[in-house]
Amino acid sequence: MFRAVTTRSWSNWQFAVRYHAYPGPRLSPRDFTPLELRARGYQKSTHGRADVPPLAFAFDIDGVLLRGPNTIPAARRALAMLEGANPTGRKIPYILLTNGGGTSEQARCQKLTDQLGFKIDLHQFVQSHTILKSVVHRYTDSPVLVLGGRNDDVRKVAEGYGFKQAYTTLDVLAWNPAVWPFHDLTPSERESTKTVDFSKTPISAIFVFHDPRNWALDIQIICDVILSRGIIGAPQGTRLSNYGRRPPDLIFCNPDVLWGSDFPRPRLGQGAFRIAFQAVYKTLTGSEYYDVQYGKPTEATYRFVKQVLKDRFKDLYGDAAVRLPNIYMVGDNPESDIAGANAAGWSSVLVHTGVYDPQQGPPAHEPTHQARDVEEAVKWAIERELSKRY
Ligand code: G3P
Ligand code: MG
Repeated sequence: MFRAVTTRSWSNWQFAVRYHAYPGPRLSPRDFTPLELRARGYQKSTHGRADVPPLAFAFDIDGVLLRGPNTIPAARRALAMLEGANPTGRKIPYILLTNGGGTSEQARCQKLTDQLGFKIDLHQFVQSHTILKSVVHRYTDSPVLVLGGRNDDVRKVAEGYGFKQAYTTLDVLAWNPAVWPFHDLTPSERESTKTVDFSKTPISAIFVFHDPRNWALDIQIICDVILSRGIIGAPQGTRLSNYGRRPPDLIFCNPDVLWGSDFPRPRLGQGAFRIAFQAVYKTLTGSEYYDVQYGKPTEATYRFVKQVLKDRFKDLYGDAAVRLPNIYMVGDNPESDIAGANAAGWSSVLVHTGVYDPQQGPPAHEPTHQARDVEEAVKWAIERELSKRY
């Protein structure tokens, strides 16, 4: 079988991918095109350490590698190429960069490893709220509200980051059901709550970690916290100034209005929740409330990710990794993946397996290239970089 399918073209790659999956006789130089041989040539470096590969990847998750709970088949083939089944015969570094979240990085990496069939390491994974690790020192001992996800999942994530007093809107509802009379706590929600007297607990900040499950409850409580300067249920408006409490900070981790799941059409995301909150708040007060936005395409998130990539390259290539090679962001959402990558000076590839539908016309942000799926995107990028060099 091995010899029969060898041809001097792209299929060589598919062949290599399959070969990687099924161990057999070692590949010999005859099995590769001159480009591949030259590309393999570059692995011998004078520093004794592997030369830095000519490119690296940042992969979005929803709509690129996964659709809801389902793994997109092209994803495994794409990662197999980066694990060595490519003309260089070498691993090409990649990270996963998602606006998703709601569980710890460890738990998500384990789940992704199972779903994708390749080990996803903590150092190659960034989710929407990972960046909060860099701001937690400002709120360590202060009471904060954490929103999104199921029950108290995001409280556990926040505590893992170092927040010592992280409360949920379900804790608030358990404290006083009258705060929102239209939702009765389910048994699992009640079980996840902590007993707190919010009339004596000044909330200094509200962090929206992940997509809220109960928009109405969460919007009510964010308004209560802000309009009472942190003490839920306390008098509202100007009479507060003499309490000397700072206006609470409001931080969102994911600006996506739409995202690609296993439903045929994109679904509303955390960005839509933020718009709904600001619309209500503006109706109540006449203006929107100042908030901080993290997540793709924000500059803060891409700056944070650049450092993650630099650290990863240092781990992999030591001193040889003085400069990052060309980074290829592969995403399904022009507003977050492509806009952010373009602004970061990276190359960007827009795939058609998620939010963006080419039938709907040109994308709002022009990518470097468009591809049917992540496998095609990876092939195109590798060939592009190798043809630049050889
Ligand atoms: O909630 C997640 C969604 O907004 C998008 O996730 O992986 O496409 O950045 P991702
Ligand atoms: Mg996506």
